[in-house]
Amino acid sequence: MNIPKHIAIIMDGNGRWAKKRKLPRIAGHKKGVGAVRNIVKHCGKIGVETLTLFAFSSENKNRSTDEVSLLFKLFLSTLKNEVVKLDKHNVRLEIIGDLSLFPPDVQKIAAEAQARLSNNSGLTLVIAANYGGQWDIVNACKSVIASGISAEELNQQVFAQHLALQNNMVDLLIRSSGEQRISNFLLWDIAYSELYFTDTLWPDFDKLQLDKAIESFNYRDRRYGGRQ
Ligand code: IPE
Ligand code: IPE
Ligand code: MG
Repeated sequence: MNIPKHIAIIMDGNGRWAKKRKLPRIAGHKKGVGAVRNIVKHCGKIGVETLTLFAFSSENKNRSTDEVSLLFKLFLSTLKNEVVKLDKHNVRLEIIGDLSLFPPDVQKIAAEAQARLSNNSGLTLVIAANYGGQWDIVNACKSVIASGISAEELNQQVFAQHLALQNNMVDLLIRSSGEQRISNFLLWDIAYSELYFTDTLWPDFDKLQLDKAIESFNYRDRRYGGRQ
């Protein structure tokens, strides 16, 4: 089995999972954290190099203030509770997105967790929080301009170094919950990703579901525009 080096997941369907059970939306988000735990563990085990998870989009700020503040709280408590276990599993953590709008305690814990896990050499876990693909590209442009590089020196390779993922292209992009759109997740980085959509709602997504996605990936013929 060919294991994709970089898997990215749009973890969608927490609200619908809760609604089906007549529970508040936050119950779905909490259950979704459990799914994250299992998938991170499984990815480390099977040798995925990078797992990038879409936790909160730039546009998710437009939800009710109740849901947004509960999501911040959940993010904070999850980071706090999981960091020791992530460390034990040799996971390196990177958080991408515009964290400046996050409450100061969330920013602080995020910085501390990244620092603590920065020297680990196992799975790189990237959490996209208040992230938008368009935001990322504009941010990269600003960074390119600030670097003082000339137009002649700029190329795709150089530009990609200024993106949040710094030239780490996604091999397999998964979206749960049946929606088939990108919702402003990674844009540049999925130029040649294989796409996999499943109707499974994120809280029900488990390692068997991931194995199924990887199996599908193994049947893909990645041609990159060329022909043998
Ligand atoms: C995904 O689940 C998690 C976040 C966007 C934070 P949703 O909350 O979007 O769940 P649905 O799409 O309403 O079911
Ligand atoms: C995308 O899901 C964002 C995350 C999973 C974090 P949304 O539920 O926000 O996307 P739309 O609104 O259905 O496009
Ligand atoms: Mg959704």
